Amino acid sequence: MTIQTSSPEQTQELGRIIGQQAQAGDIYLLTGPLGAGKTCLTQGIAWGLGVPGYTRSPTFVLMTRHRGRLTLYHIDLYRICDPLEAWDMGLEEALFGDGVCVIEWADRAAEVFPAQALWISLDYGPDPDCRRISFALPASERFQPLLSQLAGRFAASDGVHN
Ligand SMILES: Nc1ncnc2c1ncn2[C@@H]1O[C@H](COP(=O)(O)OP(=O)(O)OP(=O)(O)O)[C@@H](O)[C@H]1O
Ligand SMILES: [Mg+2]
Repeated sequence: MTIQTSSPEQTQELGRIIGQQAQAGDIYLLTGPLGAGKTCLTQGIAWGLGVPGYTRSPTFVLMTRHRGRLTLYHIDLYRICDPLEAWDMGLEEALFGDGVCVIEWADRAAEVFPAQALWISLDYGPDPDCRRISFALPASERFQPLLSQLAGRFAASDGVHN
């Protein structure tokens, strides 16, 4: 399923719904080029989880932890050279704890993630403020209600394509 958003605010709103529906142990794996909107989406997820304030990209510190309804681990793998580096930064605690994990540039360490994670790819659209946000067919039934809700919410703006 692909949703097209037409502003950063819409991408954040999509993230907010993900954050509201998120459950302990969820892993969201974000991919897409520089500036595609991965951090923007994560900000929305943080708000949906009730994390106060603004979530900056953790590019320079690799991982930030935020307290909300559940703990949000926001990870950015842009700078890693080897998937093994992900373990050195404490990825294990984030992946297998009882928080919610959002990982930018997850394709840099694709093989280390458990199969039940949800892959979300972001890309540019036809207009400067357009983004295409695609959800991989989830390996886990767990995400079906979320995807149905997102499809319903964004169908109104004619931005959903299966
Ligand atoms: N529909 C949209 N959704 C999200 N961001 C948008 C949209 N339209 C324009 N933008 C702009 O695109 C930029 C997205 O930046 P963001 O930091 O979220 O990207 P990123 O994928 O995290 O990049 P990086 O790989 O550098 O971490 C922001 O400046 C935002 O204002
Ligand atoms: Mg980013």
